[in-house]
Amino acid sequence: GDGGEGQAVKLASIADYRAASRRRVPRFLFDYTDGGSYAEQTLAANVADLAAIQLDQRVLVDVSRIETRVKLLGQALSMPVVLAPVGLGGLHARRGEVQAWRAARAVGIPMALSTVSVCSLQEVTQGAGAAPWFQLYLTKDKAANEAMIATAREQGCPTLVLTVDLPTPGARYRDVRSSLTGAPGLAGWLHRAAQVAARPGWAVDVGLMGGPIAMGNLTGLVGAKAPLSDYLGWIARNFDASADWDRLAWVRSQWPGPLIVKGILHPDDAALAVQHGADAIVVSNHGGRQLDGAISAARALPAIMDRLGGCIPVMADGGVRSGLDVLRYVSLGAAAVMIGRPWVWGLGAGGQAGVAHVLQLLRAELETAMALTGRTRLA
Ligand code: GLV
Repeated sequence: GDGGEGQAVKLASIADYRAASRRRVPRFLFDYTDGGSYAEQTLAANVADLAAIQLDQRVLVDVSRIETRVKLLGQALSMPVVLAPVGLGGLHARRGEVQAWRAARAVGIPMALSTVSVCSLQEVTQGAGAAPWFQLYLTKDKAANEAMIATAREQGCPTLVLTVDLPTPGARYRDVRSSLTGAPGLAGWLHRAAQVAARPGWAVDVGLMGGPIAMGNLTGLVGAKAPLSDYLGWIARNFDASADWDRLAWVRSQWPGPLIVKGILHPDDAALAVQHGADAIVVSNHGGRQLDGAISAARALPAIMDRLGGCIPVMADGGVRSGLDVLRYVSLGAAAVMIGRPWVWGLGAGGQAGVAHVLQLLRAELETAMALTGRTRLA
């Protein structure tokens, strides 16, 4: 099925998938992905500023043949959409990142597997029959960084994405309230267990049948269990807050293939990323999960496009909730967008079929938006 079939409630939009996923996964997991930092103003601005972009309706143009394919860093994409790295994304359904990457592959778009995924890069590569992109966070353990890059090379990942906007996690109030963070004792365990008990379908699919629940790429550092009692605390203690532009140059020296730097909002940083060897950047405020009060990605993009003058592809993410939003980012100059929450909601609501249907919706909405703006090609 395509995820829309066989469901008691028909799911027509990404917002519908959000609601369906919320009913299906434990609250601490839903809120972790859904939420932003502090008052969630930047999260809201990502959505609102994108939605505020007006598109020009054009008529009586032959739009009987719409072409959504693009080329990005030597790769052909069926549409300018990439599954963004999402920490713990794979917890939303059994061996979730394997399911998501299968769905993306079937559609012909890339997925960037998170450093803090549940399934290891090896499992995801084997499970889907091809290596995804790999997203790297720099941890304090230099040997672990080197080993992760080497693994990405060995597995045949086509592209490395270095995320640079998380030297330390932003304050996430929802995760404190749900006991995903800072709740190591019995009370925290009971609180999370109660949230799992309220979602029996998930408890069986993931909790009982879906193990091991680990951070698959980091078992050497973390052990065989994901630190669900203090997830962001673990990140705060182990990510390398001392990383600077020299570290980007170091990553560049370790990685011969295409290197994308994700988490740029300032034109000066965009220029520095190019100077230090980035082959592309992602304009991003990490889905409003880091510096609340930061500019939205849609508002940041034009000045960065101006500064770089087309010397490398510029991608963007944050706030994409429909195919219309994909066109909006493309209209500002983005070579492609990353989507995070939408694929995770698809996975939580319906596993691989849910992700496939979310991508099918995005594709159809993008094609329709192109037709109604009189554009047959994204260029
Ligand atoms: C980690 O990447 C997070 O945003 O929680």
